[in-house]
Amino acid sequence: MRVEIRDGLESRPDVGPLAAAVYPPEVLANIVWRSVVSARATRRVLVYDDDGSLVAAAGVLFRTGTLNSSKSNIAGIGGVMTLPTRQREGFGSVAMNAAHQLVARESTSAFGLLFCEPKNFSFYHSLGWSSSPAQSSPSSPPRPRHTPSCRHWFTLSSRPLQRKAPLS
Ligand SMILES: CC(C)(COP(=O)(O)OP(=O)(O)OC[C@H]1O[C@@H](n2cnc3c(N)ncnc32)[C@H](O)[C@@H]1OP(=O)(O)O)[C@@H](O)C(=O)NCCC(=O)NCCS
Repeated sequence: MRVEIRDGLESRPDVGPLAAAVYPPEVLANIVWRSVVSARATRRVLVYDDDGSLVAAAGVLFRTGTLNSSKSNIAGIGGVMTLPTRQREGFGSVAMNAAHQLVARESTSAFGLLFCEPKNFSFYHSLGWSSSPAQSSPSSPPRPRHTPSCRHWFTLSSRPLQRKAPLS
């Protein structure tokens, strides 16, 4: 297995085939965030298997936002995906753990933020994320026409991730 950290824009074409496999048209047609416009990843984690095939990816976005009325640096996570034929082999966790390390290394973000569907609760929860009790918003927000069904967060620090309250 090999893990690469790349520039978000430059690596975008590389994740095209992976994204197409994860989100074929019939999935995209009905997915809850189909009308949400997302910012592009600043950096991207790419995970390759031993044969050199790209099997998983995760995007990291550095943004300034508002947390409880105060300006705050936020590390966003998006574009997390594993090739359908290689899911439940740990590749998604490898991508996310590399993203956590990248954020700790390259930013002063007070916390991480991601949006996900309820079916992915257990994946993110297993990585230390939990539902956010905070009111936060990016400074130049995407334009959602459908409200994402949940928001996950965790506090970024050099300490090991600690699980927070159970997901609601
Ligand atoms: C979510 C996703 C990235 C997980 O990737 P993965 O490589 O399968 O994840 P891992 O193998 O590292 O899973 C780690 C743990 O997360 C949990 N988990 C992962 N997928 C799960 C699922 N479908 N149902 C329940 N638990 C799950 C399990 O606890 C798992 O550990 P286990 O296999 O030992 O039980 C992958 O399912 C995916 O690409 N889904 C489609 C795209 C998507 O929804 N991305 C997330 C956008 S927010």
